[in-house]
Formats: sequence, C-alpha cells, structure tokens
Amino acid sequence: MKQKPVPAMRKLNFDVLTLFPGILEGPLNESILKRGREKGLLTVTIRNIRDYTEDKHKTADDSPYGGGAGMVLKPEPIFKAFEAMKTEHPGERFLTILLSPQGSVLHQQRAEQLSEEKRRIVLLCGHYEAIDERVINALVDEELSIGDYVLTGGELAALVVIDAVVRLLPGVLGDEESAYRDSFGDGLLDHPHYTRPAEFRGMKVPDVLLSGNHAEIEKWRRREALKATLLKRPDLLESAGLTEEDQKILAELKKESSR
Ligand code: ADE
Repeated sequence: MKQKPVPAMRKLNFDVLTLFPGILEGPLNESILKRGREKGLLTVTIRNIRDYTEDKHKTADDSPYGGGAGMVLKPEPIFKAFEAMKTEHPGERFLTILLSPQGSVLHQQRAEQLSEEKRRIVLLCGHYEAIDERVINALVDEELSIGDYVLTGGELAALVVIDAVVRLLPGVLGDEESAYRDSFGDGLLDHPHYTRPAEFRGMKVPDVLLSGNHAEIEKWRRREALKATLLKRPDLLESAGLTEEDQKILAELKKESSR
C-alpha cells in the first residue's frame, strides 16, 4: 500500500454570506461537520446579507438596469458585509468564492487545495437571481460551480464545498487514511466493500478478503478500483497517475471485458 505523509494539523475558517441562513444551519450541525466544529478544526460564520442593509425594508435586491425579468442582488449590503468581516478579523486575508453555475466545476483537486487554504474562505451565495457585476469585479476571487445544472441558490453548493473540503482536514474523519482511500483520493474510484456475514442470501464475499493475506487483498482492491473506474468513469484513467503494473492490469481487464 502506498503511504501518504500524515499532514500537519490545520484549521479552516469559512464565512458564508447568504439571504437564507436556515438552509445551512441544519447540515452544519450534524455528523462530521458538527464534530469538526466541536473539535475546533473549522469555524463557519453564517452572515445574513439582509443584516447589512440600511433601509427599513431591509432590501437586498432590486430590478435590473436595462429591464428584464428577475432581480439583482444589490452591491451595498455585500460590500458592507465584507467591511464587517475585515473589521472583525484585522490583518487576516480572505479568499472569496462566488457559488455560481457559471463557475469552474469543483473537483477533488480543488477541494484538496482549499483544505490547505490559510486565508478565511468567504462563500458568497446568490439566490434565484443575479449579483451586481461590481461585486464580482471588486470582491470575488473565484467562481465555483458544483456541476452543470442550475440550483435555486448557492447555499446547497456552499455546503457541498464545505463538506468536500473539511473531510480532508486531518482529524475531521476518525481514520486519517479514509479521506485518501475512497473514490478520487488517488484519482480512481473506490474498490467494493463487504462486511459480515460472509454469505448473505447466497451472495458470497470474495474469498481473498477472508484470506488474511494482506498483500493479496491490496492487489485485489487495486484491481477492483481500476475495474470500477474503467467501467464507470474511464475518463478518470487519463489523469490517474497509473503505474506500469496498473497499466498491465487495465490491459487484462479490457481484454476480459471484450470477450
Ligand atoms: N447556484 C446555482 N446553481 C449552482 C451550481 N450548479 N453550482 C454552484 N452554485 C450554484
């Protein structure tokens, strides 16, 4: 088995700017994200954009100049929220990400980079509507999409980003290795998993997994990971960094499947 170096202790700080804080609160207070927060490995500050408006109706959006349907998020409250963050965290640097279907699509590699980010990560969520371009030009460093489909807003996408990034922080998942060994960690899909019983309704666990022979088990797992990737996501093989042995196994698998 390839050994990955054990990374040093890291902590991530997120600020999420949204009109709908309630969408984020539930998932952040469950399971691994909750535990990570309790362990002090991450902070997530949710800021309601409406709290930074100054009129009595707390207006965060307005109709578009030039006409047309839909609303546009106003620049003032968003700029104000940024000023508040800077005042609260003097001397800190910020990486501002706008969640948008027009952004570059989030991949594991970007999640890994973000898990090493030293700046506070600001996740700016639009909802239904557009954002005034001056916000994008002046405040946004990067636009990220979680896939080629349109959501009602950036909140679910922000949660996806937080989840994908935070699970890579050392200490967030119980077993250090598990973040690396499942799908995409090494550029391949995961191998199949089994637990007790060894036979269930006539379906047997592969003998090798019961053999106690760890070298053979690792060989089987690599082969199955290659097989799963070849069948389900052959596009990933191009950038997976395969060894000569992997290439040999792949050639065998291709031969088998063409029989
Ligand atoms: N907002 C709306 N759709 C989105 C998507 N696919 N990714 C990120 N943010 C979004």
